[in-house]
Amino acid sequence: MKVLGIDIGGSALKGAPVDTKTGRLLAERHRVEIKSPCSLKEGLAAAREIARHFQWKGPVGLGFPGIIKAGRIGAVGNLGRVWENQNGLTLFRRATGCRVQLLNDADAAGLAEMAFGAGRGRTGTVLLLTFGTGIGSALFYGGKLFPNAELGHVPWRGKPFERYAAAAVRKRARLDWQQWAVRVNVYLAVMERLFSPDLIIIGGGVSKKSAKFMRYIRARARVVPARLHNDAGIVGAALAWEQAGG
Ligand code: BGC
Repeated sequence: MKVLGIDIGGSALKGAPVDTKTGRLLAERHRVEIKSPCSLKEGLAAAREIARHFQWKGPVGLGFPGIIKAGRIGAVGNLGRVWENQNGLTLFRRATGCRVQLLNDADAAGLAEMAFGAGRGRTGTVLLLTFGTGIGSALFYGGKLFPNAELGHVPWRGKPFERYAAAAVRKRARLDWQQWAVRVNVYLAVMERLFSPDLIIIGGGVSKKSAKFMRYIRARARVVPARLHNDAGIVGAALAWEQAGG
């Protein structure tokens, strides 16, 4: 199946047509910058622009940075509260003029890594964490997703962990890679205490820079960078249609 995958992040929407059987992008990805927080108008216009760029008329899958239940948007992190309690399916169907499916952005990245990347064939407990504007998480056991696990929001020193260890915090607090990795290690230790994962996959924008920080990462579980790098979000967004049964 060919699906236009759109990954909605805190600083941009990125999209490309995806072959859901192979996980391959069928064209170069198109990126539209947004501000964070982002108005409905700006976010929906960015989705429209991506569909228009590919002159897309087929199915669209979107990874959204918030809780998604049956197409409805629940609590939202960095994108802004105006998105909360909206019917995401209706909003994005109107914006793109296409049939749409919606799921959490980190769940999307996790599905892509389990199908085509670092989690392929892994049946134990696998935790994928995306480090970007926030921290996203996707939890798997027996290859099955536990949806909407918002593990970037586990509290640490009175704030959500994502305000302490997200990739955006590294830049904002001017931490070097080693200093940031120390924070990530604190976070991984808490995740390990809670879930005993067999494999931890580090995804999001930082995954393509793994050479800069992986050597500082310490955990009991095996920790590997996402193999699809930042494309995992786009590929996984398209897989929303496979989840939904096409
Ligand atoms: C949101 C999550 C999202 C993560 C990564 C968090 O702020 O609450 O739903 O997966 O950011 O975008």
